Amino acid sequence: MAAQIRVLGLGTMGGRSAARAASAGYDVRGFDPSPAAREAAEAAGVPVSDDAASVVADAGLILVSVPKPEHVRALAAEVLVKAPAGAVVIDLSTIDPGTARTAAAELAEHGVTYVDAPVLGRPATCGSWTLVCGGPAGVIDTVRPALTSTVAARVVRVGETGAGSVVKIANNLMFGAINAITAEAITLCERNGVDGRTFVETVAESGAATVSNLFKEIAPKMVSGDDDPAFALELLAKDNRLALELAESSGSPAPLARAIVDVNEIGLDHGLGTRDSGALARAYAEFGGGR
Ligand SMILES: NC(=O)c1ccc[n+]([C@@H]2O[C@H](COP(=O)([O-])OP(=O)(O)OC[C@H]3O[C@@H](n4cnc5c(N)ncnc54)[C@H](O)[C@@H]3O)[C@@H](O)[C@H]2O)c1
Repeated sequence: MAAQIRVLGLGTMGGRSAARAASAGYDVRGFDPSPAAREAAEAAGVPVSDDAASVVADAGLILVSVPKPEHVRALAAEVLVKAPAGAVVIDLSTIDPGTARTAAAELAEHGVTYVDAPVLGRPATCGSWTLVCGGPAGVIDTVRPALTSTVAARVVRVGETGAGSVVKIANNLMFGAINAITAEAITLCERNGVDGRTFVETVAESGAATVSNLFKEIAPKMVSGDDDPAFALELLAKDNRLALELAESSGSPAPLARAIVDVNEIGLDHGLGTRDSGALARAYAEFGGGR
């Protein structure tokens, strides 16, 4: 199956996914409401349409990569219900598990299977992503070859519908923590006479137990002021809010999630939402000593 791959959402993640599927030889077509995203996809060899419903009409496999749960809910109700019975929706977006379960139930009535399959990986590593999937094992097994020949190295089923979203939200809570603490540590150094670059270079090369791949990626960008968005701060803020909501609704303790959500909001108040998550360092640089 999945000779026909349709992609809804041609932004940073979906655009790369569509381009890789096209270059792997699949029959691909994409939709995005943004003309700029459609043009970029076309330039990358992806045929596009300005009509979402026509894109899914003959779909075997539909990849969805949209920013927020409300976008998934709208697509499920208005567009994905028009996919042919037997089609499989692989939702790469980071959303809450409740939205995943609602979309799955709605689409099941039309014979369409919905799998939440958020991405563990960065845009530049499309092709070696891990997709954490929630949904029926048999269907996930059926689409695995198409996914591993395009966007993913691993397609891991972690449970029923919604379970993939739980894993992703928990993972991005760790992302939010590392992002915020890196900005905070750099600022601490700079307020105490140590250049941020010196701190980052010294620690990154040290083999200290604190050095993660993420630290190595974002810390140099923070100190150089490069905030070209690989992962926009507003998306991280959304993910961390989802973590806090999930913690609150399940009675899971979340003192750090609360702090991370607050820090992200300060970055958004500084107008940094569309910049890279590492732009949080700029907001930190402007904090007074009292916070
Ligand atoms: N960028 C990352 O590093 C990264 C990593 C893992 C997961 N994610 C998640 O993947 C999702 C996409 O992230 P991104 O960075 O590509 O965001 P993006 O903003 O670059 O792209 C999202 C695209 O979705 C489009 N869109 C909005 N509504 C739509 C609709 N109804 N139909 C079709 N397209 C629609 C937007 O126009 C935009 O082009 C988000 O949920 C994000 O949290 C991002």
